[in-house]
Amino acid sequence: MKRYIILLSAFFFMLLFTSLSFGGTKEKRTIDKKVKALLSKMTLEEKVGQMTQITIQAVAKTHGTATQKFEVDENKLKEAIEKYHVGSILNVYDVALTVDEWTKLITAIQDIAVKDTRLKIPVLYGIDAIHGATYTSGSTLFPQAINMAATFNRNLAKKEGEITALEVRASGIHWIYYPVMDLGRQPLWPRLWETYGEDVYLASQMGTNYIEGAQGNDISAPDKVGTCLKHFVGYSFPLDGKDRTPSWIPERMMKEYFLPPFQAGVDAGAPTVMVNSTDVNGIPGHSNYHLLTEVLKKEMKFKGFVDSDWQDIERLYTRDKVASSPEEAVKMAVMAGVDMSMVPYDFSFYDILLKLVKDKEVPMSRIDDAVGRILKVKFELGLFNNPFPDDNLKNKFASSSSAATNLEASEESITLVKNDAKTLPLSKNIKVLVTGPTADKLSSMNGGWTITWQGDEESLYPKDKPTVLEAVKDKIGADNVTYVPGSTFDSLLDVNAAVEAAKKADAVVLCLGEKAYCETPGNINDLTLDDAQLELAKAVMSAGKPVVLVMLEGRPRLINKIVNGANSVLIGFLPGMEGGRALANIIFGDANPSARLPVTYPKYPNALYHYDYKPLEGEEGNSYDPQWGFGYGLSYTTFSYSDLKLDNSTVKLGDDIKATVKVTNTGAVEGKESVLLYLRQMVGSVSRPVRQLEGFDKIDLKPGESKVVSFTIKPEQLSFIGRDDKRITEPGKFKVMVGNLSQEFLLK
Ligand code: BGC
Repeated sequence: MKRYIILLSAFFFMLLFTSLSFGGTKEKRTIDKKVKALLSKMTLEEKVGQMTQITIQAVAKTHGTATQKFEVDENKLKEAIEKYHVGSILNVYDVALTVDEWTKLITAIQDIAVKDTRLKIPVLYGIDAIHGATYTSGSTLFPQAINMAATFNRNLAKKEGEITALEVRASGIHWIYYPVMDLGRQPLWPRLWETYGEDVYLASQMGTNYIEGAQGNDISAPDKVGTCLKHFVGYSFPLDGKDRTPSWIPERMMKEYFLPPFQAGVDAGAPTVMVNSTDVNGIPGHSNYHLLTEVLKKEMKFKGFVDSDWQDIERLYTRDKVASSPEEAVKMAVMAGVDMSMVPYDFSFYDILLKLVKDKEVPMSRIDDAVGRILKVKFELGLFNNPFPDDNLKNKFASSSSAATNLEASEESITLVKNDAKTLPLSKNIKVLVTGPTADKLSSMNGGWTITWQGDEESLYPKDKPTVLEAVKDKIGADNVTYVPGSTFDSLLDVNAAVEAAKKADAVVLCLGEKAYCETPGNINDLTLDDAQLELAKAVMSAGKPVVLVMLEGRPRLINKIVNGANSVLIGFLPGMEGGRALANIIFGDANPSARLPVTYPKYPNALYHYDYKPLEGEEGNSYDPQWGFGYGLSYTTFSYSDLKLDNSTVKLGDDIKATVKVTNTGAVEGKESVLLYLRQMVGSVSRPVRQLEGFDKIDLKPGESKVVSFTIKPEQLSFIGRDDKRITEPGKFKVMVGNLSQEFLLK
């Protein structure tokens, strides 16, 4: 009987497997057929149009501002779609629209596309949905990626993807420019906060979980979107730390660090990729045939389409000077493997490419390949079945349950890095001074890509979301809170008043950091926090009251000079729209911090480290001496680690390794713990890092409670890029490290 059941289950399993896999392949084949059929009917003009993407600004009547509504120019829109056959439109001009305004706009666009054009090909609208539906007003705006990484919580990344997808689709849009798979290994870079931090494994895990949430199993489902991996590849590592400046990345480093998160995103099914705006090793991303075609499309097996970044094809001529004319720029980019051009202000790309094909400068085969990829994604997204907004999603937009998830993410994303004499949590029965330039600003908690591109229009922020100041008042009563700004971001204001108020208070919540910024406007020349804020901090600290320093910032601004004077420090980075509440909950003990730093926080401007440094960086007079390392974070409770066990002390090449560790909450309050597993290859033919993150899990423990956490290390996690720049695995000794414990195994 038992044998029969086993056979029967095996049969059903096979049936299910066969139908699933055949279903997938069949679906794929059907789409391929549809694409082929459609391509065969298209004129050259229609094809080149599909490859053209314009900004909505190009067809606008009025500019949206805080006081003026954006309006589209119907005639220009018709011209773009009917005459130039544009395949895609993007962005806002320049302020978030409401769900209703989006619905109207997308309906108008698709009406023209599917009713007034010969082949009825829907337009693919693309939008930056960074930390939520950036450009739909009232949306659920999560902590930025740097914070999501600090949660070390895959489930939260997935939920962010789900909620964002739903809210973007409620706005009638099917395609988002997210997640950012660039690694955050240059702390000055003004887009550091858009990344999931400095580690390959962490970024890959958070990014793929986000994709899973946003796309589900079927990107054509009514509440799912297609994602876009940004920005392929090497953009995030500029030598001088400025946005859109050159990176120099040797082949080994490229393969070991910068390519793997993109490979993870491709494997997770992201249908589109956006190109790096800058140059790597002197070759502009948009002209890099090797990276776009040989590596991404061939080696990495990316079957979707490649979108340019903003105006970047033209920049091959105007900025990078690798093309001697706009025509050469277009030819270079298309032949390098760019499938769609974010032109975005005009139809120059369309006109030029049309002529290049007619003059036989660009072969028809390349056009068919690019357009085929674009159409395939449009079919996969279900646009041909129904390109119109779905009214049913409106009542799920910005729900209270999404806000609750957002608050949870925010609380789990704020890292407690110092807590002398258990200063935190503060009692609720005290008088508090709240001071500093970020204390009363939602923009400093959200950063760029919030309602507007720069995210700095404080007047446009929702009135029902509290700043830190408002949340502290809500928590302990307005009468117990004094607020003195003390300084702006870069100049002193009423410092003396702040000091006097500190003397009268029982504790000070000092909120420092950065104003909101995005991309190049966020460039800085010095990672050190502005003088005015350091001075304010020192002055307030001189009052002798406990000081809780809260850093709200997009990158780790140096605070070495004031850390000693602070009793507690919370690195808030950009905790999003619920950041005020989350911080007040943590400060007054209604939430227990559980985040860990996703980047190494530097102490000195010229001593920038990564946690996975090489042995020689820590030996013979060199030392790894950051302010706080990657993976560091405190809690209001304590955890102890014991019984780290490996299933084998000798492992065969190609086998999995299982590790288990017991974690116990040894403190007095419930808490979440991110359990991080690091690996070190003791000897390698290329100098190997002293540790690399290869596993993590987040668990919740009541006081006294223990849990056993299991990890599976896959064979490929033991590999690295060898002397000949190829991926290899070398037998030898490896060390597994979890908490303060370690175990070794021998790979044979
Ligand atoms: C940014 C991209 C963004 C695009 C569209 C560019 O300036 O680099 O990250 O997706 O604009 O807004």
